[in-house]
This record gives sequence, structure tokens and C-alpha cells, in this order.
Amino acid sequence: MTAVKLAPSILAADFARLGEQVAEVERAGADRIHVDVMDGHFVPNLSMGAVVVESLRRVTRLPLEAHLMILNPDFFLEEFVQAGTDSFLVHWEGTNDLSRTVQHIKGLGKRIGVAINPATPAAVLEEIMPDIDQVLVMTVNPGFGHQHFLPTTLPKIARAREMIDRIKPGCSLEVDGGIDATTAPLAVAAGADVLVAGSAIFNDSEGVTAAMQRLRAALQQ
Ligand code: DX5
Ligand code: ZN
Repeated sequence: MTAVKLAPSILAADFARLGEQVAEVERAGADRIHVDVMDGHFVPNLSMGAVVVESLRRVTRLPLEAHLMILNPDFFLEEFVQAGTDSFLVHWEGTNDLSRTVQHIKGLGKRIGVAINPATPAAVLEEIMPDIDQVLVMTVNPGFGHQHFLPTTLPKIARAREMIDRIKPGCSLEVDGGIDATTAPLAVAAGADVLVAGSAIFNDSEGVTAAMQRLRAALQQ
């Protein structure tokens, strides 16, 4: 299997030092930056919009991935592309016409991932799989950082892996929520190859570099 990628989620970062913290995870070997966008409707929380992507674009060369936890994501795609977004994660539960949204994003020349919430079966991805670059299995209910990993999502990660290997072998399988040195190896064993981690990286008392080393070390065991 290819090396597991780490995608620090800036939701847990110190926003007063955001540029610095992103530079630090880049130096520590992060593979991409995960930007959680929340609208207070699709999820019961507000976070950030395209202006944050625009600012980050100036301070990092890493790919910026926008996790859109919003209703009607189509309204905002062009704005995020202008700001410098490289890839989108849209929710199966958040679009009326997923295929249209997927085609819209492909038309903008960006990578497209589809996210599914904990209660949504992997099977909903079967028909859209040939058109997408990435699957995101939410391992917590979206909306907040610092939540506990839901172990019931592990068999679903394995089902998504089976589907990817069968239909679209190049597609990445990302997990998001409650990922730390204990849960990361479980998710990877189930088939994940991209790990989003917020609090486990940005809220570590020894700092982000040590936190990322600890995550990588946990995967070697
Ligand atoms: C949750 C977000 C996550 C969140 C993960 O809705 O999609 O990306 O930042 O945070 P941790 O790693 O703290 O669970
Ligand atoms: Zn996320």
C-alpha cells in the first residue's frame, strides 16, 4: 500500500497564529491542509470561508482541501477555486444532485471527494465512484473538532476500501474525526490512506512537529 498521508485540520489551530502553524505542519511533513467549512445549517456550527483559503494560499505550497459542511455547495465553488482551493470534499447528505455537483467541480479542474456521515452506508457511493478522486468516511458526526472516534465506522471504512479496489483503484480513502495515535492505526488497518487530524496535531502539549511524529510512529507498529 502507498504511504499514508496526513491532512492536518486547521479547525483546531490557533487562528491568531494560523500562518505560522500551517508552515510548521508543512515543515513536519504534512501532505495537505484540510479546511473545514461550516455554515450553521448543514452542521450546528460556524467556521470559516474562502478568505481563509486565500490567506493560506500565500503561505503554503501544500494542496488545500476544502471540506464543505454546507448546504448548496455549488453556490460557493467558484469563490473557493479563486481563493486557491485544490480539492473539494462535498457531503452526500448535503447536495440534492450529487452527480451535478461532482461534474461542476470536475469542470473547474479540481479534485473531487465525496464525504459520508456516520449513519450513511458506504453503498451510496457505488454509482458515483467512477467519477470521484476521493472518499471521505466521517468517523465522527461533522460539526466539531475534539470528538471521539466512532468505532462503528471501522467496518464501513473496510467496505469503502473494497468498493474502491473493485471500481476505482486510484481513489483515496480519507477518514476524519477523532483520529489520534490510538485510532489512526485502526483506520489504516481498515483501509484508510489519508488521515485528517485536528486536535491530535494542533492541541498537543509538545507541539505540532512532535504530534505528527507520534502519529506516523503509531502507524509503523
Ligand atoms: C469535524 C471536522 C474535522 C475536525 C476533526 O466536523 O470535519 O475535520 O476538524 O477534528 P479532530 O481531529 O479534533 O476530531
Ligand atoms: Zn473535516
